[in-house]
Amino acid sequence: MSLIRLEKITRRYQMGGETIHALREVSLTIARGEYVAIMGPSGSGKSTLMNLIGCLDTPTSGSYHLNGADVSDMDDNELAEVRNREIGFVFQTFNLLARSNALHNVELPLIYAGIDTDERRRVALEAIESVGLTDRMHHKPNELSGGQRQRVAVARALVNKPSILLADEPTGNLDSRTGEEIMALFEQLSRSGNTIIVVTHEEDIARHARRILRIRDGLIASDEVQGRS
Ligand SMILES: Nc1ncnc2c1ncn2[C@@H]1O[C@H](COP(=O)(O)OP(=O)(O)O)[C@@H](O)[C@H]1O
Ligand SMILES: [Mg+2]
Repeated sequence: MSLIRLEKITRRYQMGGETIHALREVSLTIARGEYVAIMGPSGSGKSTLMNLIGCLDTPTSGSYHLNGADVSDMDDNELAEVRNREIGFVFQTFNLLARSNALHNVELPLIYAGIDTDERRRVALEAIESVGLTDRMHHKPNELSGGQRQRVAVARALVNKPSILLADEPTGNLDSRTGEEIMALFEQLSRSGNTIIVVTHEEDIARHARRILRIRDGLIASDEVQGRS
């Protein structure tokens, strides 16, 4: 069974009197454990596709099955539930709480999920360790480098053990060396079984993924699995 199955997904936006076809009957499957980069020029439909996959939006037509459930016509509450359970998000701008240290930032999703204190601490420490930040866990975001902040964001995204890690331009605010470090972390997380989808416009970043999907004008222009030594 595919973890993600999109069938003839169309997403149109109405802008004044104009209809914008952001996605045109896109069909796509992604299996558990895959590591996929989504590329394409600005305006091609990448964010629209990410938002649909991440259950932040629903299609105009077509069906989307995520982990066996038909999410294409769920209401907002049901979508939020699926999103919390299945998706870990990583953003270009990290989106950490400035006043909270790394450990507390990672614990937050567990607090929302109502996990008790001891279990929360144990799981958060484990996530912090998985991104190599144990020695920085009591530091606040402004006491961390950009790369370390993004590691905190990755730990936070993974702490609920989601089915998918969804990253939108995760290296967009990092210098190229630090960007490479984050991609090395994704590779390590991929090897340990995580399903990862990264949106990027940088070829160097996309090269780290196993599969590269190129979007153009709301259509999949190519979909290639890369050879790897
Ligand atoms: N909320 C919206 N309302 C109207 N048009 C939108 C909206 N979001 C995206 N679009 C349009 O849909 C197309 C695809 O946008 P998007 O998915 O953001 O592309 P990308 O992320 O590849 O830059 C573009 O033409 C964009 O202007
Ligand atoms: Mg975009």
